[in-house]
Amino acid sequence: MADERKRILTGIRPTGALHLGHYAGALENWIKLQEEYECFFLIADYQVSDYADDIDTVRAAVYEIALDWLAVGLDPERSHFVIESLIPEHAELTLWLSWYIGLGRLQRNPTLKAEMAELEKNRSESVPVAFFTYPIMQVANILMPKAHLVPVGEDQLPHIEMTREVARKFNRLFGEVFPEPEALVGRVPRLVGLDGNAKMSKSLNNAIYLKDDADTVTKKVMSMYTDPTRLRATDPGHVEGNPVFMYHDAFNPDTAEVDDLKERYVKGAVGDVEVKQKLAAALNTMLDPIRERRAEYASRPDAVREALAKGTEHTRKVAAETMTEVRSALKLNYLE
Ligand code: TRP
Repeated sequence: MADERKRILTGIRPTGALHLGHYAGALENWIKLQEEYECFFLIADYQVSDYADDIDTVRAAVYEIALDWLAVGLDPERSHFVIESLIPEHAELTLWLSWYIGLGRLQRNPTLKAEMAELEKNRSESVPVAFFTYPIMQVANILMPKAHLVPVGEDQLPHIEMTREVARKFNRLFGEVFPEPEALVGRVPRLVGLDGNAKMSKSLNNAIYLKDDADTVTKKVMSMYTDPTRLRATDPGHVEGNPVFMYHDAFNPDTAEVDDLKERYVKGAVGDVEVKQKLAAALNTMLDPIRERRAEYASRPDAVREALAKGTEHTRKVAAETMTEVRSALKLNYLE
C-alpha cells in the first residue's frame, strides 16, 4: 500500500560521528517526527568534496552516523536511511536544476559564502567546484522525494529558501511537480562549543560526542569554559552567556536543580565544580541509553548495513519515479 504520510527529507555530511549539537539541533526533532511523517534520512556523501583526500574518514563516518542514528532511536523500519551516492539520480537532478539557478544567486548564499571562506583559509588549493555547487545538490536531495518538511540546523535555512525558489520556478515553467518545502529548526538552533566558541563542531575540537563514554563526558565537562571573570567560588558569577549553564538549560531536565544552581551562582554561593558535576551527571543520564543501544548495534554490523541497504534501495525507486516525471516535464523523454 502506498505510504500516505507527508514526507520529510533531511541530511548530514559524513565527516565524523555525531555530537550533542546534532542531537539538540536536529536528531531530537527527527525522532519525534518519524511518527507522523515518512522520513528520508540522508548521508550526503556526494557533498564532502572538502574531504576528497580523506575518503577513509568519509567511509568510517557513513557507518558511524548510521550507528548514531540507530542509537538515538531513528527507526529503519519506519524511516529510510539513505546513502546519497548510491542513488546517482541525485547527481542527475542536480545537473538539470543547475540550469535554473543563477551563478549570482549561489554566490549570495550566506552559509555557502562563510563555509567557502573558512575552507579557503585552511587549504593551499582553491575550493573544489563541487563544494560551490553543493547547495544545488541539497536542493535536489529535498526535491527528489518531494519532501514537505526539512528539519535542519539554523545555518541551513538559506539552502531551504533556495529549494523553495527552485521548486516555484520549476513548477511555473514546467507544471506542478514539486511541493514547496518548509524548514523546521530544532529546539537549540546552535549549541555553543565546550570552549565557549559560537558553535559545537568537530573541526573546532569542542564537542561531546554521543558515543563518548561517561568518563570522557565528565572530563570534557570539567574542562569547559565558564565565567572567566570569576576567580573564586565566592565571587558572584554570570549565568547569561555561560556555556555550562547553556548546557544545563539545554540538557538538564531537572529545572529546579538548574534554578537553584543559577541562584547560588550569581550570589557566589556555589563553585564551578559542583555546577559542572551536576551537568556531567545529567548528560550521562541522558546518554546512557543511547550508548547502550549503540553498543548493541555495534556488535551487529550486519544490522547496520541492512538498515542502510533497505532505505537506500527503497529511495532509489522513489528517485526513479521522480526522474521519470522530471524528464517528461523538461521534455527530455525523446524516445517515448
Ligand atoms: N548541508 C547539510 C549540512 O551540512 C547536510 C545536507 C545534505 C542536508 N543534504 C541535505 C540537510 C538535505 C537537509 C536536507 O548539515
